[in-house]
Amino acid sequence: MTPFLLVSRSAEYETRLRALLGERLAVIPGEFLTFGSESVVSRVTAEPRIALLGPVLNYEETKGLVEELTAQHPGLGLIVVREQRSDLEDWVDELVLHAVLSPDASDDTTLALLDRLADWLIANGRAGARDFDPPLALEIDDMPFVDLLDAAAGALAQNDFDSIADADRTAEPETAAPESSGPIWAFPPLESGTPTEAIAVVAPKGGQGKTTIAINLATGLAEVAPNSVVLIDADLQFGDITAALALVPERTIVDAVAEAANDEIVLKTTLTHHADGFFVVASAPSPELGDLVSPVALARLIDRLRATFRYVIVDTTPGMGEHALVALEHVTDAVFVSNMGVPSLRAMRTEFELLTTLGLMPGNRHVVVNQTDKLSGITIKDVENILGAPVDVDVPKSSAVLLASNRGVPLIHDDVRDPAARAIRSIVLRIAPGADPKRSKIQRRRRSNEPE
Ligand SMILES: Nc1ncnc2c1ncn2[C@@H]1O[C@H](COP(=O)(O)OP(=O)(O)OP(=O)(O)O)[C@@H](O)[C@H]1O
Ligand SMILES: [Mg+2]
Repeated sequence: MTPFLLVSRSAEYETRLRALLGERLAVIPGEFLTFGSESVVSRVTAEPRIALLGPVLNYEETKGLVEELTAQHPGLGLIVVREQRSDLEDWVDELVLHAVLSPDASDDTTLALLDRLADWLIANGRAGARDFDPPLALEIDDMPFVDLLDAAAGALAQNDFDSIADADRTAEPETAAPESSGPIWAFPPLESGTPTEAIAVVAPKGGQGKTTIAINLATGLAEVAPNSVVLIDADLQFGDITAALALVPERTIVDAVAEAANDEIVLKTTLTHHADGFFVVASAPSPELGDLVSPVALARLIDRLRATFRYVIVDTTPGMGEHALVALEHVTDAVFVSNMGVPSLRAMRTEFELLTTLGLMPGNRHVVVNQTDKLSGITIKDVENILGAPVDVDVPKSSAVLLASNRGVPLIHDDVRDPAARAIRSIVLRIAPGADPKRSKIQRRRRSNEPE
């Protein structure tokens, strides 16, 4: 049975809820809302009993989903997952919801709310007693929220769940002010003398796969050094790492290089955490602000982060602009990415020659040919001849790459068996030879629209 349905744009929240509910949860990425709420609802395969909507869905999207879902599944219990904001009351007034849940609510609070709503649905003939089997794992002895539940129960009895049961309105301090709190993640201290590595991902032309590779390198290296990996989005004008990871950054590279960030603690608060165990320095919120980040400031940021993190990965703007050159000067490794197009390969050869002349070729060079395809008309041997250098890794073209990016999940955790994911893992192994791909505990997740 999959009685629970989540429609959300937060990969982090999805991971959390999946850990709580396992196979009982079906997930439809919020990205499908681009095609309208009908597109999401048409992907619902099983008969859900409770739908959680959010986080990171706007009012219109939530409204559309509530309408479509209740039309298709009349008995459905509806929970909106959203922070306590001033406009929440309007949502509650206008949408027919059964509960509001803070995305920062503890696991116990979340389970308690789901349990309570499940009981109510059963008692009111909207769901069968077996629909939620096996019951949610609630440890009664470990329920610090009993009072809270009692308070919510009062509200439920009064409103018969036809209105709102906000299980978190009186919840623990951690849910009271999620926005004002700084990062709660521990940065494992680097032992003195631990070698740190910085890796720039570069390409002479745009659209070759730099960002895809940078994200998955960070993900793979985070398995080796959890929470000791930072990924800098140094594509200053059009960086898209947070979009590809469904992260909503509070601060960006502009804050990270600002005067105030001279303080180590302030610098750390400018990072955005990803649930797979790494941090992101988000790109500037606009191209104009991105222009304010000088090459010298970028170099300094790389050096400072190397003092704290085991691995620093830098995703760059295409070409050999000042920022890319300065990044190459401050890293130990460079991953050069090109597709199989002859113009891109020729440009990469020119780039090698230029870097060698300038003395800027980093100590470790990894040549990656991306989106390889048997139908391209040239072979890897031809590629090597054009480049004048051996190809280290060949990443095949795969539709799983775009799918993972649209889902906001790193490819190597979204589809572990995909050939492109395996190839990218081999880049991780070149940088961290001790990394064992089998150590990845995260198995390929079933996509919500696949049959069970
Ligand atoms: N191996 C692959 N198979 C299929 N599609 C891929 C592969 N690698 C990358 N792509 C797709 O190619 C497009 C460009 O990839 P990506 O954004 O990673 O490149 P980029 O070099 O960072 O681009 P930009 O120069 O614009 O920053 C994306 O739509 C991505 O999904
Ligand atoms: Mg990019």
